[in-house]
Amino acid sequence: MKRILLIVTGGIAAYKALELVRLATKAGIGVTAVLTKSGAQFVTPLSLQALTENKVYQDLFSLTDESEMGHIELSRSADLVVVAPATADILAKMAAGLADDLASTLLLATDKPVLVAPAMNVRMWQHPATEANMALLKQRGVKVVEPDEGPMACGEYGPGRLAEPPEILAAIQAALNNGPLQGKHAIVTSGPTHEPIDPVRFIANRSSGRQGHAIASALAALGARVTLISGPVALPDPLGLTTVHVETAREMQAAVQAALPADIAICAAAVGDWRTETEAGQKIKKDGGAAPTLILAENPDILAGISAPGPQRPRLVVGFAAETEKLAEHATAKRARKGCDWLVANNVGGTGIMGGNENEVLLLTGTGSEHWDRMNKLAVAQKLAAKIGEYFA
Ligand code: CTP
Repeated sequence: MKRILLIVTGGIAAYKALELVRLATKAGIGVTAVLTKSGAQFVTPLSLQALTENKVYQDLFSLTDESEMGHIELSRSADLVVVAPATADILAKMAAGLADDLASTLLLATDKPVLVAPAMNVRMWQHPATEANMALLKQRGVKVVEPDEGPMACGEYGPGRLAEPPEILAAIQAALNNGPLQGKHAIVTSGPTHEPIDPVRFIANRSSGRQGHAIASALAALGARVTLISGPVALPDPLGLTTVHVETAREMQAAVQAALPADIAICAAAVGDWRTETEAGQKIKKDGGAAPTLILAENPDILAGISAPGPQRPRLVVGFAAETEKLAEHATAKRARKGCDWLVANNVGGTGIMGGNENEVLLLTGTGSEHWDRMNKLAVAQKLAAKIGEYFA
């Protein structure tokens, strides 16, 4: 069993460390926690102890701790040291090599890789002192789960919010080289495509890429090497995997072909079914005449192409079906028509699914079907990745 030493420092985001522990232990990673004095203002040692099922270390000079395990030994007892959340203060201590409490002493004494997930106010994150500390730590090989951007507990907006626990877990898994999909290559398509009409206009759809990107991260968290082929989306490239950016269906198909061979292919992209037969070289003008007529041509079906028998067919091909009615009936027919192994059908007729944060899923595996209640897209991604992990176990 792989083990991490989790150092929880102060800040409102410390509560998320509990969720991280829950996810990590569920993923089969052993966790020993160290709680700083300021961290203990936000979470209790008892809750960390209950979730890790291990003693929680707090005090450098505690004799009991020393008799059980010295701080040097503790710093080397795990495969990876994780600081989440990491305050500006602990990052500064790490950069300067200070050792004035248990957490900073362990970080100075360890001979194991270190991963930090910073969380702080946006001004503190963007302060030149923090920026210099981060640059130095990265240069020394410290791995970083970059903070998210968004509204913060202090009322300000910007980067500095602790990354979500599943993302931190993915970085931990990647750093540990762990997980049931170790050694497997997964290709994931995500987002919409843009089919140009002229240099300034295009045909697109409401897909945000959230579901596909979350699946890519969830597969990476289980150890897969992931190639994410993304249409135009407003999301950042996920950490710990390779993202290839494309615009059109034909570019997406070419990128999928170039990424083969793979063990797993997940086609979550909402690929444009049609493009205009020709793309106007110049902006189409409204010159007082009739409205232009767009003649459409069908795009290649990427999922059907990759599902077709052949030497490069991935062992597991998963398609998606966006339906607005007769979900089970249409999904069953689509699975057969496309030739994929599994099909994840969503009812996009419901409000807030396409382009939103949640999804309601019917999974067809060929041997049966499962209905998953409406849940957020991260949870859907983790559930699907876990099923894929079991399939390859
Ligand atoms: N897909 C694809 N290439 C296309 C169209 C769709 O790879 N040119 C994939 C999608 O990524 C998804 C699945 O096929 O995994 C089904 O997409 P969907 O839009 O639901 O189905 P369509 O094939 O467009 O069928 P229909 O329009 O009849 O619903």
